[in-house]
Amino acid sequence: MREIIDLNNGWYYKAEYHEGMEQQDDLSGFTQVDLPHTNIELPYNYFDEKNFQFQSCYKYLLQIPRHAQGKVCYLHFSGVMAYARVYLNGSFLGEHRGGYTPFAVRIDPVYDFDREHNLVTVMVDSRELEDIPPFGGQIDYLTYGGIYREVSLGLYDPVFIKNIKVETEQVLAAEKDLKVKVFLENTSAVQGDGTVRITLQDAAGAVVQTQTFPATLNSGANPLEFKLTGLKGIKLWDLEEPNLYEIQVELEVNGYSDYYRDRIGFRTAAFRPDGFYLNGKRVKIVGINRHQSYPYVGYAMPRRVQEKDAEILKNELHVNLVRTSHYPQSVHFLNKCDELGLLVFTELPGWQHIGGDQWKKVARENLREMIERDWNHPSIVLWGVRINESQDDDEFYTETNRLAKQLDPTRQTGGVRYITDSNLLEDVYTFNDFIHDGEKGPLRDQQEVTGLPHKVPYMVTEFNGHMFPTKRFDQEERQMEHSLRYLRILNAAGLDDSIAGTIGWCAFDYNTHKDFGAGDRICYHGVMDMFRVPKFASYVYKSQVSPAVEPVLEPVTFWARGERSIGGVLPLVIYTNCDYVQLQFGEEKLEQKFYPRREEYPGVPYPPVIIDYTALSPEVVGAWGLKWEGAVLTGYYRDQPIVEKRFCADPVPTVLSVAADDQILNAAQKDATRVVVKVLDQCGNLLPFLDEIIHLEVEGPGRIQGPSTVVLKGGAIAFWVETRNAPGVITITVRSQSVGEKTVRLEVV
Ligand code: GAL
Repeated sequence: MREIIDLNNGWYYKAEYHEGMEQQDDLSGFTQVDLPHTNIELPYNYFDEKNFQFQSCYKYLLQIPRHAQGKVCYLHFSGVMAYARVYLNGSFLGEHRGGYTPFAVRIDPVYDFDREHNLVTVMVDSRELEDIPPFGGQIDYLTYGGIYREVSLGLYDPVFIKNIKVETEQVLAAEKDLKVKVFLENTSAVQGDGTVRITLQDAAGAVVQTQTFPATLNSGANPLEFKLTGLKGIKLWDLEEPNLYEIQVELEVNGYSDYYRDRIGFRTAAFRPDGFYLNGKRVKIVGINRHQSYPYVGYAMPRRVQEKDAEILKNELHVNLVRTSHYPQSVHFLNKCDELGLLVFTELPGWQHIGGDQWKKVARENLREMIERDWNHPSIVLWGVRINESQDDDEFYTETNRLAKQLDPTRQTGGVRYITDSNLLEDVYTFNDFIHDGEKGPLRDQQEVTGLPHKVPYMVTEFNGHMFPTKRFDQEERQMEHSLRYLRILNAAGLDDSIAGTIGWCAFDYNTHKDFGAGDRICYHGVMDMFRVPKFASYVYKSQVSPAVEPVLEPVTFWARGERSIGGVLPLVIYTNCDYVQLQFGEEKLEQKFYPRREEYPGVPYPPVIIDYTALSPEVVGAWGLKWEGAVLTGYYRDQPIVEKRFCADPVPTVLSVAADDQILNAAQKDATRVVVKVLDQCGNLLPFLDEIIHLEVEGPGRIQGPSTVVLKGGAIAFWVETRNAPGVITITVRSQSVGEKTVRLEVV
């Protein structure tokens, strides 16, 4: 029977590597670290991207419990950037190329149970090695180094289950079937007749069906294939109710045993020439691209923070799809997408550049590792099998398509390009459409892009981004235009059935190379900043949800007389899902009802209300020289006021708001949560130009990632607190210059 042991705590780390280090068991000069780990903590911006591109050395004193003698032992690595060599007691055991996919190294042939501990050494090369995707050209993101995902130890009987692939069948019928492929690793050619028991349970743990099948190992067939049929009462996985089921596979043969568990969902997903269909119903895709990076620690964020990103996308932005641009992302993120009902388009690592034969070999291997890791996630509806925005290479992409289909015949493939008339070797023509520059577009016609005489399944996988970079603290008018570009594109896609949907570039600002970005090594392309604090553009997405789910009323303004050219706040774009909005300026409550611009934006479910000079004379809220007043905007739904936004005429720092995403953290392993700090005015609004210094102090079993003196950016800042694998209370004191201090307490249990 398998035993899986987490190995994330108590590694030793040195920020250098030279040959022979794998032979040394002297740990002097090493520091103790926990995983996920970044090879170097970086500044927020303006740093040299070479800073993390070096070789480093990780060591671990491994003790496998005695009772495991005779077992097959593997070290499982979930993600090491970018090339790793693994040694045990100085013997080389395995290597891996590619920083985004998992690998395992077998260690029992060398493990010595007579030693107090055995020494694991991992040489990590985090340079941009030319034979590994995405490297070889310029890339618009950073590939932070280190053992940045989890590691575990797996102890198995000589024959064990390496993986399972579950394929749902007859999904839309009352009685459904399940095909289960069981991939075995048979390390000592165990033969004999055994059994495989397959159990399907619902989320509450109730058994839907369990069945024991004979399993003969003599034939050498691998994978073994089984089928559960006539499954009744199954609830589908969809966006509103993402019903999940647990599948358990138990193997018994010749006195050996193993089990494997995974979560699955029943759903159909198909891109067709007239759109995307989930469970037979057409769904317009409104998605966003996500990079998995964070300030300071790069990629090395623990599970909770990975999950939080999925929550932000689903519950704050209300998008229905995320593209894991441009590489496989954490399984924790994907698991959360499964749980929340957030569709995923995932793709192999790469960016524009296609390398030589060795590079392509690694790309194919990374593609295989991605599909084999992720094929049971119901949220994933499309495999990206093309290097993002690369040129056509029919031989290479025929092969990546073939490989994807061979590994997983149940999913369609896409491949993101920016070139038109590209040879369509995939099921879906996935295209980055950057035509909209404020005037042109906003989207191209699909056949103009594909050059094909007929319509094909087609999706816009990026737009905006570098066409209109916008900071959260940019001038109000720029932020308005930023948001309107999103709106125009969502509207256009909504009106065109031959576009399955759009995926905006992108969710969060991200650090990048000097060849991109604003010169400070940041691409300000997010609808949220790097701290996941929203920009106005994010409200275009947020407002596309029924007011019954969440009333939204987000005016694009800092509410000031003189922030915009010429003065005033008109046209005032209000992203809202209300039926209408009313305005009170100063003491005067206007009778007028301002309605959503349905005629202008019929392609989105909830067009914004726009108050402009056709509706209101400048004398009311505009002209320079008149008295400036506060305002109240009230959103009505079914004639009831459901949401209100107040603005002060004379904002001054009034309240220090300090909010942690989580109150209780995990003591067993490295955990982290975000704390958002804002200085608010009398009406609870940000003071966008208050660049004040904030001091952070932490006590207890925790640590602040990044500096403990920060400045507000656009009136807000956030930081992550990380645990130290010890229980207790973390007390964080946040001191502002203008409005005193506040303390938050996090319990670590
Ligand atoms: C695309 C690319 C993205 C990002 C974006 C910026 O060309 O695929 O990774 O660089 O441009 O707009």
